[in-house]
Amino acid sequence: NLERSFIAVKPDGVERGLVGEIVRRFETRGFKILALQLVHPSEELLREHYADLAGKAFFPKLLAYMQSGPVAAFVIQGKGAVKIGRAMLGATNPQESAPGTIRADFALDIGKNVCHGSDSVEAAEKEIALWFGENLKSYTRAVD
Ligand code: CMP
Repeated sequence: NLERSFIAVKPDGVERGLVGEIVRRFETRGFKILALQLVHPSEELLREHYADLAGKAFFPKLLAYMQSGPVAAFVIQGKGAVKIGRAMLGATNPQESAPGTIRADFALDIGKNVCHGSDSVEAAEKEIALWFGENLKSYTRAVD
């Protein structure tokens, strides 16, 4: 029940005023919000966050996109946070996202896919530390 995931509304989503809608979906599903912050990510942070993608042709574009405005970074806690979080976002390419998912409802282009979610428990803990620092390392909210 204490599994955590890192979710981010990317600059296009923030610009379009989708932060409240996206956070609301996670809250009403039953996840607890552990942290929430508007961040202007540095290139250094993004290179670390997207280290796996450094060799991709689209990487420079991805960096520019992620620095085109603030990112709404948040942490959810709850049973299945990583897997369910990813399912709620939908497929990375909005052209393939199932109807009702966030990307299908709000995006059309893989280069502007509105949101990010950790793809494993290990990645989630790494991303939480990267975006929110050590303070959040052992932070959880009580569950009833
Ligand atoms: P995200 O879930 O943040 O994980 C990696 C990101 O790389 C992905 O969402 C997209 O924003 C981006 N991405 C993946 N494939 C492509 C692509 N072909 N063109 C542009 N951006 C991409």
